[in-house]
Amino acid sequence: MQDAGFVRKAFAGIASRYVLANHVLSLGIDCLWRRTTANRIVQLKPKLVLDLATGSGDLAQAIQKACPEAKVLGADFSVPMMREAQARRFHQLIAADGMALPFKDDVFDVLTVAFGLRNMASWPAALQEMSRVLRPGGTLFVLDFSIPRIPGIRQLYLFYLKHVMTRIAGWITGQREAYVYLCGSIERFPSGKEMEALICANGFQSACAKQLTFGIASLYEAKKAS
Ligand SMILES: C[S@@+](CC[C@H](N)C(=O)[O-])C[C@H]1O[C@@H](n2cnc3c(N)ncnc32)[C@H](O)[C@@H]1O
Repeated sequence: MQDAGFVRKAFAGIASRYVLANHVLSLGIDCLWRRTTANRIVQLKPKLVLDLATGSGDLAQAIQKACPEAKVLGADFSVPMMREAQARRFHQLIAADGMALPFKDDVFDVLTVAFGLRNMASWPAALQEMSRVLRPGGTLFVLDFSIPRIPGIRQLYLFYLKHVMTRIAGWITGQREAYVYLCGSIERFPSGKEMEALICANGFQSACAKQLTFGIASLYEAKKAS
């Protein structure tokens, strides 16, 4: 559970350097993860997609590029982050809090949330809200960091997360404290079977995790019951 006021302030502080920090810290692999997500969405041929916690709009843009027929909407509660999306020429944006979305029930074919659920005030309540706005049979994708399970890689990654990432991100953004929080939140965030169970307990079925890049990130896919 995260403090929404702190999260808003943290993202307002890092917004202008967020994309650069992402690409440097992940060596550009984050683009690959978003493309993997977009390529899976193509197969579903959605008409209406919501990218929640869209931030700088990178995933929304990747989906729009992969699915030119679809209408892709980005929603976020941080206006400074959405300004970055606009600067990157993505304009289908709406200011909205994931905990109380301004949409009717059963609207979207696909809902994505990349590196966003982790920062929301209540994970169960946020998932229930996502389920509410998805149409029956619609698909949820949660993309987020996870801690690798492979011995050796796990220790190496935890060291990188705690000691290297926070320092480099601090240099790039001037907001080290925000990254101390963000990196810490990765360790606290459920992954694998635990995340599948959380998703299934809150409005979805058949949640399935796919590990990306040795498990540094995971992509979860789940359906809202028809
Ligand atoms: C780490 S960024 C991820 C941005 C983007 N999805 C990406 O793939 O890079 C997390 C985003 O979640 C947004 N966010 C956090 N809590 C939110 C909430 N309750 N409602 C809407 N957006 C939220 C933040 O403002 C921020 O833009």
